Amino acid sequence: MAAAPGACMSPPMPFAPEPMFCSRLPSADFQPRIYDPGGGGNWSGHLPFARDLVEWLRPKCLVELGVEYGESYFGLCQSIQEAGLDCRAWAVDTWLGDLLTGGYGEEVYEQVRQHNRMHYESFSTLLRMTFDEASRCFEPQSIDLLHIDGLHTYDAVRHDFETWRPLLAPGAVVLFHDIAVRKGNFGVWRFWEELSAQYPAFSFTHSNGLGVLLSSPPEPAHPFAKRLFCGEELPGLRAYYEICAERMRLRYDLQALTAGRTSFNLQLFWRSAEEPFAEERSRRTHVVALPEETEIQLPAPPKEASVAQIRLDISDRPALLLLRRLALVNRQGEPVWEMPVDRLPEDAVYAGMRFAVTGHGLLIHIFDSDSAFVPSLPADVLARFTDGGRLSVSLCAANAFQALGEALDQIDILSKSLKAARQASPAG
Ligand SMILES: C[S@@+](CC[C@H](N)C(=O)[O-])C[C@H]1O[C@@H](n2cnc3c(N)ncnc32)[C@H](O)[C@@H]1O
Repeated sequence: MAAAPGACMSPPMPFAPEPMFCSRLPSADFQPRIYDPGGGGNWSGHLPFARDLVEWLRPKCLVELGVEYGESYFGLCQSIQEAGLDCRAWAVDTWLGDLLTGGYGEEVYEQVRQHNRMHYESFSTLLRMTFDEASRCFEPQSIDLLHIDGLHTYDAVRHDFETWRPLLAPGAVVLFHDIAVRKGNFGVWRFWEELSAQYPAFSFTHSNGLGVLLSSPPEPAHPFAKRLFCGEELPGLRAYYEICAERMRLRYDLQALTAGRTSFNLQLFWRSAEEPFAEERSRRTHVVALPEETEIQLPAPPKEASVAQIRLDISDRPALLLLRRLALVNRQGEPVWEMPVDRLPEDAVYAGMRFAVTGHGLLIHIFDSDSAFVPSLPADVLARFTDGGRLSVSLCAANAFQALGEALDQIDILSKSLKAARQASPAG
């Protein structure tokens, strides 16, 4: 944490019985409508803080750059609603994906549009355009809360901040997600190091990290803000939000376990003979699998793509799934290839997953978040698929106890037939 010289003039506040701290913080009871721990965006752990931030800052204008499924954006919108604020909110995204998220289908925008319509239409607007285009829609010094969560390279995040800085109102807060991710092309951490040396700032390290920046004076009057930006770091503050995040997660896991529901991202990659598999040659969709059959459709790679091989990452997190159908269909919806689900996959290369045949489909146990399945497909199948076709998957969230029961039944059947075979053989 670093404060710009002169930005915060008051001495650090001792812990005083301020109203917001006397009563329960809103974060303690916050139950976000959209919550996807471990999902693509990895924002879930910051939702409790978002709720308190909105309560304290009372923004009149909120903008988010990079929305995707809207976990962070809708968390902020719900906070605005629950705090009863008179605030306009704007969600900016092309809803096409980027270099680091990979491309995704039209269903993402459709899902966000529906959710926005159902819950927040009176104050929230989706701007489907680039960040640069959207920046021309706002007056200088008009935004009180800006969340920057677009492309995470150093140059992109720096460009986004510099483009939007003139639009920030005095005392505005800017959030940066993924400041704790240091792999590959991720460069938010480096930009955050530079920024937090120049402005009053506070950082969380859980859920990929969240940087909270106070863009300019006036100095914050609210005790919560003083503690974040000007005071000695309240030792419990960071720990409090980590605990809130953990508690939310445990509640969710318990509910999911009870309902037999599981959610994950399914991603289809393609490549030519010369290229490796890469995010920019992929499509992704978010799946909430239920114990009942769940249908997933993903458009084939674009027609102009050169496709020599495809790879399917069925789930980006550990899961137990019952596969009923996995097919590539052509433009007319007719299958050009279907994977048999009544026997173990042959002619396929796979990692991070194992299979078991059951009477109801192929049981897949994904035990590694980097799992992959590469079927062996002839060129003519791939050509018919990429000509306007789609991937069609039908699966159920499998119940671990049921799966174990089925496996034991199989062992039972096997041992009975072995016994019968032994008895029938002349050797006894
Ligand atoms: C990391 S995701 C956003 C995650 C989201 N905030 C959440 O809570 O899960 C990044 C998003 O930014 C969008 N994006 C990246 N650069 C963009 C740009 N220059 N203009 C518009 N959208 C962009 C991508 O389409 C993608 O949906």
